[in-house]
Amino acid sequence: MLGRVLLWASESARLQRFISRSRVSQPVVKRFVAGDRLEDALTAIRELNGLGIGGILDLLGEGVTDPAGAQAAADEYLTSIQRLPEEGLDTTISVKPTQLGLAFDLDACLAHLRRLAAAARDANTTLEIDIEQVEYVGDTVTLFRRLREDYDDVRLALQTYLRRTPEDLNAMADLKPKVRLVKGAYSEAPEVAFQSRREIDAQYRVLTDWLFDHGSDPGIATHDDRLIEHAKRAAERSGVGKAGFEFQMLYGIRRDLQEALVAEGYRVRVYVPFGSAWYPYLMRRMAERPANLRFFMRALVGA
Ligand code: FDA
Repeated sequence: MLGRVLLWASESARLQRFISRSRVSQPVVKRFVAGDRLEDALTAIRELNGLGIGGILDLLGEGVTDPAGAQAAADEYLTSIQRLPEEGLDTTISVKPTQLGLAFDLDACLAHLRRLAAAARDANTTLEIDIEQVEYVGDTVTLFRRLREDYDDVRLALQTYLRRTPEDLNAMADLKPKVRLVKGAYSEAPEVAFQSRREIDAQYRVLTDWLFDHGSDPGIATHDDRLIEHAKRAAERSGVGKAGFEFQMLYGIRRDLQEALVAEGYRVRVYVPFGSAWYPYLMRRMAERPANLRFFMRALVGA
């Protein structure tokens, strides 16, 4: 229930204005977001690289409603990607399609994505595509297929709470897709998404197996110990082994686990968001864990 309210709050423009302006929310933002500037994210990734952990660079922003906004986001991504070779960091780039105009112009969004995928290739890294609310999933899958015609190392995130995901995966089996498997972070209706942890986790296990058998370089993006253990077994059973897949986690969550997996010889990558448009991202992190919310509310009321 609380999670649903928070997910509603994540899409409220009024609350966004109020909370984004409140300076006291900064300590909470700092836990989950590397900072406002690209430099902050590069510093965080450098530190992760020092621990043997890769980065996933993410410029915060989503739900862009006009071409100029999409162009500005694409330009900022491009500048960020072009910085990477001189920094010599191990990081991929991740982008939300609605940040690049998916909601109003699919062709323009594809053109932006192509530009970013090409720049990523030139910078010796790869592009990842986040997955958003269910109304954008069909178009995002279409974009992925189109991008794959020229860029076979692009990774697509898919959500195990969605009932449609097995069908999406089966339909792209010919691509041997490179997928980041996540539980799903938005509020979706029971008609389209499983609501219980038991069903979401069960589908996570099934789709993990699918990726080890039919995908390429699976990205197991979870902090859930039981699902991580399942992925380790799937890697062994399928013969993919430790080098053939990666665990992915979020900045500010379970650093202990990230380091433990590296020590066991697994590949680990951490999603590092930066920028000023942190509000919806932060609210989704609150919704995942009520304990975060108590910390946040205390900061907000100055207690
Ligand atoms: P679960 O929520 O069950 O958490 C397992 C454990 O992890 C908890 O017990 C706790 O210890 C810790 N934990 C989890 N969330 C926490 C939090 N917010 N604060 C503190 N501790 C927490 N979603 C999406 O819809 N589209 C996307 O593109 C992505 N991309 C993405 C990339 C990466 C690298 C990750 C790790 C996750 C995403 N997600 C996402 C988010 C994902 O859908 C999901 O909401 C979160 O990962 C939380 O789910 P877990 O699988 O960690 O399990």
